Amino acid sequence: MDTPNYLLINQAEILLPNGELLLGDVLCGNGEILQIAPQITTMPENTQILDAKGLTLLPGVIDPQVHFREPGLEYKEDLFTASCACARGGVTSFLEMPNTRPLTTTQAALDDKLQRAAQKSLVNYGFFIGATPDVLPDLLTANPVCGIKVFMGSMHGNLLMDDPEVLDRVFAQGKRLIAVHAENQARINQRRQEFAGITDPAIHSQIQDSQAALEATQLALKLSKKYQRRLHILHLSTGEEAELLRQEKPAWVTAEVTPQHLVLNTDAYETIGTFAQMNPPLRSAKDNEILWNALRDGVIDFIATDHAPHTLEEKAKGYPNTPSGMPGVETSLAVMLTQAKAGKCTVAQVSHWMSTAVARGFGIPNKGKIEVGYDADLVLVDLVNYHPVLREELQTKCGWSPFEGWDLTGWAQVTIVGGQIAFDRGKLNTNVRGQALSFGVN
Ligand code: DOR
Repeated sequence: MDTPNYLLINQAEILLPNGELLLGDVLCGNGEILQIAPQITTMPENTQILDAKGLTLLPGVIDPQVHFREPGLEYKEDLFTASCACARGGVTSFLEMPNTRPLTTTQAALDDKLQRAAQKSLVNYGFFIGATPDVLPDLLTANPVCGIKVFMGSMHGNLLMDDPEVLDRVFAQGKRLIAVHAENQARINQRRQEFAGITDPAIHSQIQDSQAALEATQLALKLSKKYQRRLHILHLSTGEEAELLRQEKPAWVTAEVTPQHLVLNTDAYETIGTFAQMNPPLRSAKDNEILWNALRDGVIDFIATDHAPHTLEEKAKGYPNTPSGMPGVETSLAVMLTQAKAGKCTVAQVSHWMSTAVARGFGIPNKGKIEVGYDADLVLVDLVNYHPVLREELQTKCGWSPFEGWDLTGWAQVTIVGGQIAFDRGKLNTNVRGQALSFGVN
């Protein structure tokens, strides 16, 4: 059956771009928001009515850093399962990283991903192109891309960019956004040797310590200033980096933080062991607080999950043989809205960090706000009731979450992608397909 072209979201608490809430209706048609009013009574005949009483309508989440594993590593996750997890989590667009097999370092590899996503993804998609030490020509021309991904550390093989001279060349050429995974690989290598033989996963945060992150962020900032190059610092993890950015962050630099770096810290190794292992690693409770302050003060611009699924078998291998990374798209919005409920921030701030600021930062047109003419990428959340993170409800193929058992509020009840209902109170509509995103000057 065809989905009707028009959708009326009836009597939601609507988060407006000025941060105010309006109890009212939103009419969507042909993928866009057509009208917002306290009550809409005139609408086309074939309009589907969605009862939204008691729910809050937010712009759909745009997750600016995910690893969805297709092609090549589909045993961990694929674009279909990952996008189902997105729809369940209220994520209507994602920006995906190039560490798939093959690596996304050429136009051909990018085209392949775009084609796969068009066939499989329930939500909208965009991709980074990966920088390699041989600085392939497609780095500057491949299209559409949201930016160039540079792994300064925490990566093996061709994507590792740990030579400062090569980094300088990448920053010197072209104008498109560079997103860095900022960890100093030389320091990590040296400390890995120093701590060799230790199997307690908590050592991970000491091997890849705060200093390793700070040194790489300092270098990226220096190069960005040298060439006035648009820089985005991925998953900021330390108080030291946040303080550095507070002192000297140029207007063309943005930074993000993950929910896990805000709400988890090294105590998590005691409860979930290697499932807490990620790069950059979890830090201290003090770092959590400094990162929160930086986020609230606008030093950190947005929230990304760094969704990095690995199987239960892989995660059970025992440190240091376990891969780093944890899934996140399914829980990020609820984790953040639960924090809002607890008084850490407001719902409007969460929506700004997870939607509006991301669209602005990557120049994604017509997304990230509930405004007439904007795309109808929306999420209805329940800010009243709580529900735990349950393994059996997870859509991600990896089948686990670091937040299992956490009682969260703000779960997505209905997720709307381009005016189509992709997820409705526990049920996915797997016929829905997202679209390729476009990016400002990139
Ligand atoms: O822990 C991580 N795992 N951090 C990253 O940035 C990459 C990732 C992965 O792809 O598994």
